[in-house]
Amino acid sequence: MSFLTPRLFSLASLITEGEVVADIGTDHAYLPIYLAKDGKAKKIYATDVALKPLTVAKNNLASFGVADKVETILADGIEWTIPNNIKLDSCIIAGMGSTSILDILKKDNENIYSYIIASNTYLEPIRKWTKEKKYFVEKEIIVEDNKIIYEIIKINKFAGTKIKSKKDILFGPLLVRDEKNKLFLQKWLEEEEKLFKLLQQIPKKDKKYKETLKRKNEISKLLKRRTLINE
Ligand SMILES: C[S@@+](CC[C@H](N)C(=O)[O-])C[C@H]1O[C@@H](n2cnc3c(N)ncnc32)[C@H](O)[C@@H]1O
Repeated sequence: MSFLTPRLFSLASLITEGEVVADIGTDHAYLPIYLAKDGKAKKIYATDVALKPLTVAKNNLASFGVADKVETILADGIEWTIPNNIKLDSCIIAGMGSTSILDILKKDNENIYSYIIASNTYLEPIRKWTKEKKYFVEKEIIVEDNKIIYEIIKINKFAGTKIKSKKDILFGPLLVRDEKNKLFLQKWLEEEEKLFKLLQQIPKKDKKYKETLKRKNEISKLLKRRTLINE
């Protein structure tokens, strides 16, 4: 479907046959529409905290002829799964910043088996949360969409790769192992350059200078090795 951007398509690719799925903060509902047309998911919920985007979602679902295949819910975050005892195989949270996503994740509960997350900001806070919860990383994807590079993570509560180190938190435990990934390299080269410019604007005495320098050095260390491998 042409409306499905590479980021949304990557999110959809993480859904497996027969799953019960929810798209939290669905807005336009493009992802649920794609999933409904694709027919892989057993049940699809599309939720939003605000009435206006949910109305847009309902209209789009109707226009694409899948209104009967997607249940829309006006709700804040994921708490609605508890009173209704709705079990979700995959809970998608995308298109928000990590602070908003973490706020939603505060209501994490046993009805949700896995999360598929694409943040508009850094994914590090989400990986930190995953580590603290002792959850696992099932899959990580890096994708370019409209000149922005997005990291996507599928967090599984029962099996997968553990997040062990600060390096895992920063780069992603699976992405960091993919040594030939050009997009990964591009993302961190861009970040290194951004931090380099930022360092020139912060006074050296500032606490922020030290933190930024530490982050930049961590990235530079990884990039040095990566550039050699990819030469
Ligand atoms: C930028 S849109 C993202 C749409 C889509 N998920 C995507 O990735 O393209 C963000 C949507 O999340 C909704 N939202 C923000 N906080 C939310 C929350 N706590 N619970 C449910 N929806 C929320 C907003 O109302 C908005 O429609």
